[in-house]
Amino acid sequence: MKHEILEKNIGLMALVMILAVSIGGLTQIVPLFFQDVTNEPVEGLKPYNALQLEGRDIYIREGCVGCHSQMIRPFRAETERYGHYSVAGESVWDHPFLWGSKRTGPDLARVGARYSDEWHRAHLYNPRNVVPESIMPAYPWLVEHTLDGKDTAKKMSALRTLGVPYSEEDIAGASDAVKGKSEMDALVAYLQVLGTAVKNKR
Ligand code: HEC
Repeated sequence: MKHEILEKNIGLMALVMILAVSIGGLTQIVPLFFQDVTNEPVEGLKPYNALQLEGRDIYIREGCVGCHSQMIRPFRAETERYGHYSVAGESVWDHPFLWGSKRTGPDLARVGARYSDEWHRAHLYNPRNVVPESIMPAYPWLVEHTLDGKDTAKKMSALRTLGVPYSEEDIAGASDAVKGKSEMDALVAYLQVLGTAVKNKR
């Protein structure tokens, strides 16, 4: 009888459905906020240094995330190809995280140290230099644009308020660490550190 009332009243039905889905969702999501495995950095994780941080911002600006994920799923097909699956503790200091969801190109979560700096430079300048069949766009301007380091320290202190453990020295030296470097230097430095806190164990 009671159920009939619910079934014949679409407004009430919708409300009860929302309630049921919310409770289901919350019981899955809320505990994650209190678990060390999702909140604590993995052992050996270091915050991006000034140059890597600028490189990350160029990665965001150039829209690399639109073609590249940084999230290896725990499936054999993925771990065989890319290395150890991604764990939450690797991205605790990424604001915003760049896991992405589109893979026109390969996942980059563990690309760090896989190629030489020279390979990355040649590849980003024009991917066809090293991968003849590549459909990735070329980014030649990265070589010409020089960083002035004007905002690097501010970015780092903003991140520190979000819990990234930058020291006073890190912030004080930030501008000098990037000034005069090219955007290419920064982006390559960023790519080379990706995923290196967790070894490529199978
Ligand atoms: C239109 C899609 C697209 C965009 C945008 C794009 N890529 Fe790619 N990327 C690809 C494809 C496809 C490949 C595979 C062919 C190759 O290696 O060039 C690739 C390969 C790579 C590789 C080699 C990965 C490996 O494991 O072999 C790196 C590193 C890379 N891209 C970095 C970048 C960066 C950094 C940016 C932003 C500046 C970027 N990509 C933007 C499509 C894209």
